Amino acid sequence: MKILNSPKEAIEFRKALNGSIGFVPTMGALHEGHLSLIEKAISENDFVVVSIFVNPTQFLPGEDLDKYPRRLEADFEICKRAGVDAVFTPTAENMYTKDEVLIKAPKIKGYILEGFNRPGHFDGVLQVVNKLFNIIKPAKAYFGKKDAQQLYLIKQMVKNFFFDIEIVECETKREKDGLALSSRNVYLSDEERKRALSISKALKRAAKLSSKTKNIEEIKKEMLDILDVDELQYIAFVDRDFNYINKIKPGDTIILIAAKVGNTRLIDNIWI
Ligand code: PAJ
Repeated sequence: MKILNSPKEAIEFRKALNGSIGFVPTMGALHEGHLSLIEKAISENDFVVVSIFVNPTQFLPGEDLDKYPRRLEADFEICKRAGVDAVFTPTAENMYTKDEVLIKAPKIKGYILEGFNRPGHFDGVLQVVNKLFNIIKPAKAYFGKKDAQQLYLIKQMVKNFFFDIEIVECETKREKDGLALSSRNVYLSDEERKRALSISKALKRAAKLSSKTKNIEEIKKEMLDILDVDELQYIAFVDRDFNYINKIKPGDTIILIAAKVGNTRLIDNIWI
């Protein structure tokens, strides 16, 4: 497995390859969720490249950029065992210059929900994914439904900028008890982890209820009864294009939650 430390090395590696690339962008601290994307990519492409880059431009001041878990050696091992061809781990210095051409997330869909609570976050995500796509030139790129709004916005960017890349949507991987896997779960104490579970429980309950009622207020009330978090940032009901909806549309609904448990901000969602 090749380790590519700079865009220059990655571009050279790409040029020498003959075949299609499946690409899995990550920020590392890899878990089974990431691994499921990697395995899907391996099953569908000639070559697979994983990027591991804790992208500073998508973190807001005061967020967890400095303490974000970094486990590069363990991540390399996971990728190697899975059969990844190359891991791209650039530095912020060689990815960014001082006064850059910028990319803006859409004014509405990039600034609601996650974008409202983390203004500018998606500008940073789209900026780095744009760079990564241009460096790796994949045929397919793999993203998790866990970050549903990110997935939607990346699909929008691909459309709006005419990237010739297929975005593959991957299911959310969960612990046995339902907690969505996340690199940030390591921040949770035992007590917080128990309460964090109320997020996936509330979503599961909402999914079950939505087969009986399409009434969002009714569903939301039951979700609030289950949730045991410290700060609920939003419960939202949107369609697959992130338009708010006022009743459940089976096959075209995503229910999302963002909440803080202790100091840890968690997001999860369910597709109905
Ligand atoms: P990161 O949080 O490391 O996630 C990398 C990819 O793994 C994303 O597509 C995310 O949706 C997916 N993922 C995370 N948890 C998952 C789970 N439990 N099940 C399935 N997939 C899961 O998302 C980012 O990094 C960054 O914003 C990035 C796109 C790399 C840009 O910096």
